Amino acid sequence: MSTQGIGYANGKIILMGEHSVVYGEPSIAIPFPATQIKTTVQASEGETAIDCVFYKGLLNDMPELLESLKAVIKVSLERLGQTDTLSLTIDSTIPAERGMGSSAAVAVATTRGIYDYFQQPLAHSELLEIVDISEKIAHGNPSGLDALMTSSSTPYYYIKGQPVTPIDLHLTAVLVVADTGKTGQTKEAVANVGEKVRSKSGAIYQRKIKDLGQLAKASKDYLSQNQPEKLGLAMNQAQNLLSELGVSSLELDALVVSALSHNALGAKLTGGGRGGCMIALARDLNDAQVIASALKAAGAKATWLYEMSGN
Ligand code: MEV
Repeated sequence: MSTQGIGYANGKIILMGEHSVVYGEPSIAIPFPATQIKTTVQASEGETAIDCVFYKGLLNDMPELLESLKAVIKVSLERLGQTDTLSLTIDSTIPAERGMGSSAAVAVATTRGIYDYFQQPLAHSELLEIVDISEKIAHGNPSGLDALMTSSSTPYYYIKGQPVTPIDLHLTAVLVVADTGKTGQTKEAVANVGEKVRSKSGAIYQRKIKDLGQLAKASKDYLSQNQPEKLGLAMNQAQNLLSELGVSSLELDALVVSALSHNALGAKLTGGGRGGCMIALARDLNDAQVIASALKAAGAKATWLYEMSGN
């Protein structure tokens, strides 16, 4: 055991395939290191205690909302065969409930921090198993994409239950990410899509899920063959389908319209939707800056730029 354990995780951006990924369709996501979480683990004199932006106090008194974090700590200690009491400090620049994978990132950083504290190796597969337990509590029916992306440094093509494929990124374009400032409701959104898919008119929604999957599949080639225009069109089509699945919002729609009327090649929500963040594809940095300013003027609370040029 060391005097201090540290664990990191990054935010993630889903380019294509949110929601449909839950149903076994392909998805594409990138790690987003502009936003990060750091968990610091130390010995505690008394009971295990947490210090994070939502809560400061004893693990046992933690509100139900943080049940997923409690599970991560409990499962990690059980797996390590440890009963020590700990003091955990969680510092985050990932906005919570904005489709950037904050809940998975907290679980990733905390698991890594605890293993680091006890100086034990942590295989990526074991990390994903632990985070999955916590994500089931936070999201109900997670695809595993958030856990993967918040613990990785490579863009991935991901199909639930299959080995992941790194994306060969060759795209001259800039991604603009904008936060509506409204918390998304991933758990509810995932559950509502599930109700639609299982409803009497389920076949219509299953078709939309399949179409989203096809767009993600095609986008993989657009990303590696430098076809930003085609990717932009695919993003617009995905936004329409996600809207028809009921996971967009007035705020997201307003930002999408603003980006498209300022020369974006495409724009869509990212992550669970119903609030949270949207993304817009710009031809170059200059266009991206114009789009980011327009998005701020249209109500975005924060914007980030991500150069996609790749390797
Ligand atoms: C949430 O970031 C992404 C969803 O597809 C849910 C999931 O993949 O578990 C909406």
